[in-house]
Amino acid sequence: MSEYIDKAFSPARLGKLELKNRIIKAATYEGKTPDGIPGDLLLDFHREVVEGGTAMTTIGYCTSEADGRINDQMMWMHDGIRDQLTHMNSELKRAAPGVKISGQITHCGNFSKNRKLQRLKRPLGPSRQFNMLGAPAGLPFAGAMKTSDIDHLVQTYHDAARIMKETGFDAAEIHFSHGYGLSQFISPKTNRRTDEYGGSLANRMRLPLRVLEAVRKAVGDDFPILGKIGMTDGIKGGLQFDEALEAAVMFEQGGIDALICSGGTSSFNPMVYFRGDTLDKGLIEVEKNPITKLGLKIIGPKMFRYYPYEELYFLENAKKIRDRVNCQMVYIGGCTDLESVENVMKEGFDFIQLGRPLIKDPAFVNNANADPNYKNGCIHCNRCASLIEAPGGVYCPLNREEQALEVKAS
Ligand SMILES: Cc1cc2nc3c(=O)[nH]c(=O)nc-3n(C[C@H](O)[C@H](O)[C@H](O)COP(=O)(O)O)c2cc1C
Ligand code: SF4
Repeated sequence: MSEYIDKAFSPARLGKLELKNRIIKAATYEGKTPDGIPGDLLLDFHREVVEGGTAMTTIGYCTSEADGRINDQMMWMHDGIRDQLTHMNSELKRAAPGVKISGQITHCGNFSKNRKLQRLKRPLGPSRQFNMLGAPAGLPFAGAMKTSDIDHLVQTYHDAARIMKETGFDAAEIHFSHGYGLSQFISPKTNRRTDEYGGSLANRMRLPLRVLEAVRKAVGDDFPILGKIGMTDGIKGGLQFDEALEAAVMFEQGGIDALICSGGTSSFNPMVYFRGDTLDKGLIEVEKNPITKLGLKIIGPKMFRYYPYEELYFLENAKKIRDRVNCQMVYIGGCTDLESVENVMKEGFDFIQLGRPLIKDPAFVNNANADPNYKNGCIHCNRCASLIEAPGGVYCPLNREEQALEVKAS
């Protein structure tokens, strides 16, 4: 085994937190919280990941408030689920002693189809905008946040982080990317404000940096905060790499422990962060709402721009950010082969987040440790990503097909 593979599978510190190796499960909203409750479905999914040797798993898309949800089945951080969160975290730690758990705190902003709004009448973002996702559900417009909404939002991130720390999470990841609430403020495409939260990059970064400060205040200095940032929106008029680089420096100066560099937006161009087969076919297959289904058939092929998959597709830009900041760096994006793990380590990244490779094989770490010729087998078909709202949530359909073939052959 090369020294770099060895490094990947050896203990390391994320901030002050000791991880048993450098492999972290990426946040992948799994659609396993019926009615927003973290029960056995979610626990079983992450138990497989932690038992498979991953050093830290991330519970994806935990929204900071009820109205931060894209759909009404998502989990939001509130006192009513403290017992379930504590139970989940203690069970995961019992299943894999030494494992750590991170929670991704996020908010949909103006990108929501959740009709069960509690505080708001309609989704809010930085500026008034057509809400394509919400239109079939009767929420065609998103409003612009007032300063009081912004102050409220900051407080929800603070409170969500405090709940996470108090219920046994070991780290928090703030989602500043993928076209959700905070990245809507960073992006000049969606932020057309003329007050101190819009205009220059410094102004567009004001809310994300306030959120970082609030989360730090809630969790203290010893609790690592990771930030998932965008390197480009992948759309005309959106965030471009030169500004993303400056934003990364601002996050570092704001006290972030580690940066995870992604890109794209779920609203305008999600394939930037997935690559490989486009999502429309899978989404049409599982969509129940006939209007949305029809809409997907008509606009799906236009909605999802095709980017051929290549290993380590974010590496070159992530390296440029690595060269500008002193905080720790977590690589994400198409790290499927052991050779890629080796390359990322060689390039000096501190950790690697794996999304689809751990959906394909939750025991990636244990299996790769045992076999230098390990092959993960994820083919980047992205069918798992189409299942986030299917009954039971995300799984790898390819695994099931492979298992069925094995049964047939035996
Ligand atoms: C099923 C699924 C759900 C996802 N949900 C989230 C999410 O909740 N938050 C997030 O930041 N990224 C999400 N992603 C993106 C992944 O975190 C990651 O950025 C992307 O899959 C690329 O990494 P990979 O090549 O290791 O899969 C999701 C990806 C998949 C496949
Ligand atoms: S469905 Fe399976 S093979 Fe396809 S992208 Fe997801 S994990 Fe990979």
